[in-house]
Amino acid sequence: MQQDFNNYSPSDHQVWRTLFERQMEQLPLMASKTYVEGIEKVGFVANHIPNFETETNPRLRVLTGWEVEPVTGLIPERDFFELLANKKFPASTWLRTPEQLAYLEEPDMFHDTFGHVPLLACWRISPSVILWQN
Ligand SMILES: [Fe+2]
Repeated sequence: MQQDFNNYSPSDHQVWRTLFERQMEQLPLMASKTYVEGIEKVGFVANHIPNFETETNPRLRVLTGWEVEPVTGLIPERDFFELLANKKFPASTWLRTPEQLAYLEEPDMFHDTFGHVPLLACWRISPSVILWQN
């Protein structure tokens, strides 16, 4: 599946900006230094949705060998863990609407990328070790 980056509307980019700025007001005070540094390492910025193919994945490949794998939404557990075993992190491509800023029933692209991908820029442990420990 492709991200279809050119399909994002100005409203989508504004939703990303609003969510990004809200998080960045608090994260440096509350989140681990590793996570906050990871946001910068993967190149996430306020003014636009990250383009996985041209921005995020080239950086991740160099840093840790990980990639973001676009998916339509929630996927079966087996597919999810198979992607992780191959250093591919499944991320939705759809974004919540301005009316959904505070609550969503299903993780969207902001949740999947902003919430999870920064730590992949700092990955130093094999995913099989993490899975085995859980
Ligand atoms: Fe999550």
